[in-house]
Amino acid sequence: MSPDPRIAPSLLSADFARLAEAAAAVPGSDWLHVDVMDNHFVPNLTIGLPVVEALRKATDLPLDCHLMIDDPDRWAPPYAEAGARNVTVHAEAAADPAKLARELRAAGALAGLAIKPGTPLEPYLELLRGYDTLLVMTVEPGFGGQSFRPEVLPKVREARKRVESGHLTLAIEVDGGINADTIAAAADAGADVFVAGSAVYAADDPDKAVQELRELARKAQG
Ligand code: DX5
Ligand code: ZN
Repeated sequence: MSPDPRIAPSLLSADFARLAEAAAAVPGSDWLHVDVMDNHFVPNLTIGLPVVEALRKATDLPLDCHLMIDDPDRWAPPYAEAGARNVTVHAEAAADPAKLARELRAAGALAGLAIKPGTPLEPYLELLRGYDTLLVMTVEPGFGGQSFRPEVLPKVREARKRVESGHLTLAIEVDGGINADTIAAAADAGADVFVAGSAVYAADDPDKAVQELRELARKAQG
């Protein structure tokens, strides 16, 4: 049994000149997903710490910072200190992810570990005992609006199995191409946090889209 689904709208699909309004447009969401990209780890550049600090004051929604950056060992802890609820770093980029998780938690955040579609889960299973969130990328990180990749779902199933057996205590988050057509497959596989960018912010009523996605995930969980 997965926990009640949580929906995290991704600001990547919002109007960057109106981020406070974009946050206010989704009061019914659980986390607000902030994609930080450095044009090195991924070929795109978005927003960084000053914007997260400003957002923290502009909304009461918990911030879910997804750092698609090189050298997160150096750059991630300040996001926790800035008040992010969850700070996720990429396994492919972190030099000492065990130490980094301890630092993120000490700064008051949940610690998240993300893996790209081509990155296997197995090498990280022990390390994940020190983490609170596993983010399984369901697209190649870098851009919104891409198609969901169902071939990564076995990693979600495996992680859910480890949580069920008590080996891990983790929220299992999926990110990329989540919409009304794909969320059921991810929920059925065992995800319980769902990032949705274009599916929320391209909708006429973003908050209604959040509620509909949550309902679809609940149904698929059975
Ligand atoms: C992609 C980002 C995602 C992105 C998802 O690298 O990590 O969070 O915003 O956007 P959609 O939901 O449009 O795929
Ligand atoms: Zn993301």
